[in-house]
Amino acid sequence: MNHAHAPLPEIINHYVNSVHGDNGPPLESLGRRAADAGLPAISVSHAVGRILTLLARLVDARATVEIGTLGGYSGLCLLRGMNPAGRLYTVEINESHARFARSEFDAAGVGGRVEIVRGAALDVLPGLASRLGIASTDLVFIDAVKPEYHRYFEIIAPCLRPGGLLIADNALSSSTWSITDPPGSSDDRDAMDRFNRAIARDPAFEAVLLTDGHGVLVARRR
Ligand SMILES: C[S@@+](CC[C@H](N)C(=O)[O-])C[C@H]1O[C@@H](n2cnc3c(N)ncnc32)[C@H](O)[C@@H]1O
Repeated sequence: MNHAHAPLPEIINHYVNSVHGDNGPPLESLGRRAADAGLPAISVSHAVGRILTLLARLVDARATVEIGTLGGYSGLCLLRGMNPAGRLYTVEINESHARFARSEFDAAGVGGRVEIVRGAALDVLPGLASRLGIASTDLVFIDAVKPEYHRYFEIIAPCLRPGGLLIADNALSSSTWSITDPPGSSDDRDAMDRFNRAIARDPAFEAVLLTDGHGVLVARRR
């Protein structure tokens, strides 16, 4: 394999954004409002947001679960592609993040389609999963604590219908680690390496790793 030209991502991201823009209102200004409100700048990128919208549209997502709401950016991207009757259940531990996201969902006119499930994902997901039921859910998007991804997956996977999508952000990197760092250099890196490989091996799923943003795992339930 020839690695002579790696890595490209920054200029590629720049190019992609120059082609597709910033996703328009209210998403293009959400980051600024979130920063003013003191939220960290750790939402998915515009490009990953577009992927979420497209994937939600492709599966005509109705029941959709997100783990890690932050300010609602990725949630609004999902809602944009979901069936208009679809409902987003988004899990968030931090009260000020949840409050900010609620105001963004309401301002965007989709508040009635969103339930923000407050609490630590590992505490609240089992109840959400039993409320939703087996094979009830079209799309699950994971974007919270990296070493917990596999537990989130184990709890929520039974809810995914055949043909439903599991999507996970930070499959390849974050602002502090890269999957190409040596094993043992970061707990998050190692957890994501194990998670990527576990989903790739899981016979119930057909998975790919997209290199956009910090890397996105997309897996379809067979
Ligand atoms: C990377 S941000 C999510 C970004 C969001 N998906 C977006 O792109 O707009 C991670 C979020 O998960 C929340 N979080 C952290 N630990 C959590 C936990 N144990 N359970 C639920 N949410 C958690 C954080 O408060 C933060 O808002």
